[in-house]
Amino acid sequence: MSNSIFRTKKIASILAEGADDSHGGGGLHRVLTLKDLTFFGIAAILGAGSFSSLGGAVFHGGPGVVVLFIITAIACAFTAFCYSEFASRIPVAGSAYTYAYASFGELFAWVIGWALIMEYSIGNIYVSYSWSDYFTSFVDKLGQLLHLNLHIPEYLSTSYMEVKHAIAGGNTSKDVMDAWNNAPMIGGLRIIFDLPALIINALITWLVFVGVKESRNFSNVMVILKMVVVGLVILVGGYLVFSKGLSFNWTPANDAGVHSFMPNGFSGVMAAVSGVFFAYIGFDAVSVLAEESKNPQRDLPRGMILSLVICTIVYILLTLVLTGAVNYRQFETVGDPLAFIFEKQNLDVSWMQFFVAIAAVVAMTSVLLVFQMGQPRIWMSMSRDGLLPPVFEKIHPKYKTPSFSTIVTGLVVGIPILFTDKTFVLDFTSIATLFAFVLVCGGVLLIPRKEKQPGKFNIPYVNGQFIFPLIIAASFTGFMLVNPNYLHQLFSFSLTPAETSAALAGVDANNTSLVQHLTDAALTAKQTTNISTIIFWLAGISISILALVKKYSLIPLLGLITCLYLLTGMTARNWAWFGGWLLLGLIIYFLYGYRRSRLAATPVA
Ligand code: ALA
Repeated sequence: MSNSIFRTKKIASILAEGADDSHGGGGLHRVLTLKDLTFFGIAAILGAGSFSSLGGAVFHGGPGVVVLFIITAIACAFTAFCYSEFASRIPVAGSAYTYAYASFGELFAWVIGWALIMEYSIGNIYVSYSWSDYFTSFVDKLGQLLHLNLHIPEYLSTSYMEVKHAIAGGNTSKDVMDAWNNAPMIGGLRIIFDLPALIINALITWLVFVGVKESRNFSNVMVILKMVVVGLVILVGGYLVFSKGLSFNWTPANDAGVHSFMPNGFSGVMAAVSGVFFAYIGFDAVSVLAEESKNPQRDLPRGMILSLVICTIVYILLTLVLTGAVNYRQFETVGDPLAFIFEKQNLDVSWMQFFVAIAAVVAMTSVLLVFQMGQPRIWMSMSRDGLLPPVFEKIHPKYKTPSFSTIVTGLVVGIPILFTDKTFVLDFTSIATLFAFVLVCGGVLLIPRKEKQPGKFNIPYVNGQFIFPLIIAASFTGFMLVNPNYLHQLFSFSLTPAETSAALAGVDANNTSLVQHLTDAALTAKQTTNISTIIFWLAGISISILALVKKYSLIPLLGLITCLYLLTGMTARNWAWFGGWLLLGLIIYFLYGYRRSRLAATPVA
């Protein structure tokens, strides 16, 4: 027992608590096999990222976004190894939160638990919105097919903030104007909200509440369905790209008329990081099912890595099909890119549009399901440790699920659906999840190394003492060779004339407020990127020194550094919101968890 905010939990005591049955209900059901876990991984990964945010990502980076998918996959694979190591040593619910408790101590554990709310709950808000987009268009298509007037009004299928921001930004598209003009008014307030997003959240909450077995069966069916349709998109789309001779789209022209796989350069590719990273979030959710899997030591790592590999292949192929079928610039405002490529003016396959709409609804339902299962299990662990009130660890006597936590999750996802919009929640989720990944990779370095035991997963130990500093030095040299001005540009904190004219391309010079706004935005973006990149290199040097001294294992080191690199793609606004969220979390910790923790010297009852 201790008063330190860095008090750690012994792995042995975490395992003992996991096996303990004092929270009522007889513990969780151990029913999940390797196949189930892999399916759960795919269920969580393949969703709004590929069906929705891929369009925006491709618009920023062009076909070259494939490179970012590969970099992100590498970062996630290294991180998956770290999750697997932890999950194999500490096979209890709680995921990164529990791992941090055993390595960094209580304060970091709380911070991770707090950040994971953004991955699981806030992430599900984005998925609910995307689900609603596809569901609404599916209903329209069904109406056309059956010659019925099926249509969900725009004011009942869009979030208030999205419409408000669109109008403030000068967007006068039909959907936006219909939502605004047709919305009923109560006391001067326009009633605009996303009803399908609210309904799907309520349904998923109910499903998760009634039990993991039912959820698993439902999830497995959905995974098969979405894989079939995604496979069809790749096969049909890929065939048409070649048969129609469209492969020239893979090297489109940029503003200067130069043809390139990365028309907006590497910075354009990095601008897509939130969307691309979001597409990968979910493989880690498998680790929260530790207490419900039959053989967690063996199956959790395998399930995580298998699902990651499968989804990476899917993403690379999907991006190539998308950017082959249509010029990347056309994806600017496209929220349903996989259906869009089959529209009349593009590949012109109407039956595929219909299939894609169904698959998207299915795919996103399964993502919602997995995340909605993950969140309560993390809270359950935090409650067991005294960091959250005891009611969060209650398990329903009949359904064997964390009942109160499940309902609170439903509310945490459902209520903000009324007040937020897609872009905001996408950025918020990605930065928090990357942050959690950084701590998981760092945490593996801190736990004592163990001899390999048969049947258990161990990260293969490769001494990073010299290799890691060499990789950092070689990467820096590589950047300098590609761009000899790299260092100079890194320390330049004002816009060059070329950067200013790129930011103002196509803008009326007389519109001084817009010119000022765009110039300020470009300057802030440049400064944020430079500052975070400088911090990244400083971190690289510091970690190299630690690796040299402590002979750290190479794989977690690479996970740590690749996740840190992805963080350099985040904007100032992302950092500001994330900082505010962490601050709120710290206040709550010191007001409640610090004093009530089971590890506190004199816990408050
Ligand atoms: N990776 C998940 C999705 O794309 C969050 O929906």
